[in-house]
Amino acid sequence: MPEADAAPKERKDFAVKTPQKEIPAFYLRGTEGQDWGLKSRMARIFNPESGRTVMLAFDHGYLYGPTTGLERMDLAIIPLLPYVDVLMCTRGALRQCIPPECGKPVCLRSSGGATILKEMSHEMLSVAVDDAVRLDAAAVTCQVYVGGEKEHETLRNLSQLINEGLRYGIPTLGVTAVGRELARDSRYLGLATRVIAEYGAHFVKTYYCAENFDEVAAGCPIPIVIAGGKKLPELDALKMCHNAVQQGALGVDMGRNIFQADDPVAMVQAVRAVVHGGETPEKALDLYNTLKSEGRKTRKAR
Ligand code: 5RP
Repeated sequence: MPEADAAPKERKDFAVKTPQKEIPAFYLRGTEGQDWGLKSRMARIFNPESGRTVMLAFDHGYLYGPTTGLERMDLAIIPLLPYVDVLMCTRGALRQCIPPECGKPVCLRSSGGATILKEMSHEMLSVAVDDAVRLDAAAVTCQVYVGGEKEHETLRNLSQLINEGLRYGIPTLGVTAVGRELARDSRYLGLATRVIAEYGAHFVKTYYCAENFDEVAAGCPIPIVIAGGKKLPELDALKMCHNAVQQGALGVDMGRNIFQADDPVAMVQAVRAVVHGGETPEKALDLYNTLKSEGRKTRKAR
């Protein structure tokens, strides 16, 4: 019978006097008790060095159809890929427009069932978890309308997505979707993010609020990322990112303020400078303007 290990016994070194090295505590709040695969996926989403993330949200089409800036996802998204940490999109966008070899982790939009033409909160889970596995999703996500007419249904969707994701070690991002009738203040956002965390989501996406966002972040025991919302002037968007991360958010999951910017490639790099580099909004705007004018020159020269 062949020897499994033919090296002489005297060459082996078991370092018997050295205690086993323990794995250090995981760097993300609320994730320590999870299994290895789930932590590994969270580590693909949140950069282990900065502990933060720049997620690009371009799932708008599932509600709004061809949103401004996303008319051609193949043309709009590919140039942004080098500068984003995570892609948040639908399975249709992923399969049709994103090259699998880009290597970016995906947070898969897994809810649907309504559009801008009807009651948008009327959602169901639209993606089975085995398809999320086939798509190599690093996370799955659904909307939750806390306080809305469909509160019960959307909390049920969240619970189901968490339960199914956990079977495969896939974390769930809960999105606080705010109906028109509800104020986006710290009282509401604090309630909605906390409810989502208590249901067992692994991270939460919410809006930034100018007053007491630090209390929203402190009261939520899982990582928070902020949505950008409607397009703002670039400096205002960068200020919002800066304030959010200074007050406890671990990054952004931003769409329109990136892909609707005058120069999306410059904007995503400016957002990155704020989120990962701790840059001030003013310096990040300088970077944006420099990259934008360099981009113009390069395009002209072609
Ligand atoms: C819909 C979503 C969207 O992905 C997200 O809110 C859009 O991002 P942005 O507001 O930055 O355009 O989750 O509720």
